[in-house]
Amino acid sequence: QKAGSSMFRFPLISVKGIPLMNHIANNFDAVSAFCPDPSDILIATYPKAGTTWTQEIVDLLLHNGDAEACRRAPTPVRSPFLEICSPPPIPSGAYPKSKEIKSKTHLPIQLVPTGFWEKKCKTIYVARNAKDNTVSYYHFGRMNMTQPEPGPWEDYVQKFMRGEMPWGSWYDHVKGYWQEREKRNILYIFYEDMKEDPRREVERIMKYMDLSLSDDVVGSIVELTTFKNMKENPMANYTCIPENVFDQSISSFMRKGEVGDWKNHFTPEQSAEFDEDYEKKMKQVNIPFRTQF
Ligand code: A3P
Repeated sequence: QKAGSSMFRFPLISVKGIPLMNHIANNFDAVSAFCPDPSDILIATYPKAGTTWTQEIVDLLLHNGDAEACRRAPTPVRSPFLEICSPPPIPSGAYPKSKEIKSKTHLPIQLVPTGFWEKKCKTIYVARNAKDNTVSYYHFGRMNMTQPEPGPWEDYVQKFMRGEMPWGSWYDHVKGYWQEREKRNILYIFYEDMKEDPRREVERIMKYMDLSLSDDVVGSIVELTTFKNMKENPMANYTCIPENVFDQSISSFMRKGEVGDWKNHFTPEQSAEFDEDYEKKMKQVNIPFRTQF
């Protein structure tokens, strides 16, 4: 670990049983009181499920595929992080002051400000299979100095299964939004589906947003949001965050962008233990996750 980096590794404080970074927990009344406009769009995810990718797609859809317009500012300015209230230099807390209409949240559904439901705001939930999500979150913890130290991989897998992560349990998160998706008109999409057929998923998001853009524009949005193009886009690849906060020399924000990278991390024993635990936690729902194609 580099000198000085530990000053950002915020401790977790429980809010209604969900571990959140202290600056979020300490400001949670203000977060809960936030009152959106009915035209606001919420992009909700468990961390590392494809948030940034979806934020880029939504911004491009709102700007008719105009690449220049969507390079006006980095992702966290174009699509503010609802609950983050951290001190500088981490950009955040902008949402209540921002004119941008699409915010990102990692809050589990029960902690989302009730205003979003009262105003019937559109909500897009992106879910990613548990194993790839674990791997991605692990590498993110290594490079993101605001997160707790991930520690060794074998311990990290255990903590993930126990839900001892910022924003809590992956299992409860994906189930919470799944169970409410019809009642609250949530568009529930999967990272793996986006990888398999990005055009189909961009069109799905477009329809949900009541937009109808030409086939050409949809095609260019698909192209602009490939992993490679977003990795090279300084307004989408999080190079806007100072290196002492996101140390991309440890692991890139745009790390790999694939389905099935878990096979390079889980030993057969870890995989078997994870699967057994997964069955128990997920048996009451049938969410069609795929860990490979
Ligand atoms: P990996 O660590 O597996 O590479 P989030 O935006 O929710 O933090 O999620 C980040 C994950 O999404 C990272 O996964 C990142 O590489 C991946 N990602 C970001 N943009 C992507 C894109 N355009 N296509 C595919 N994956 C993308």
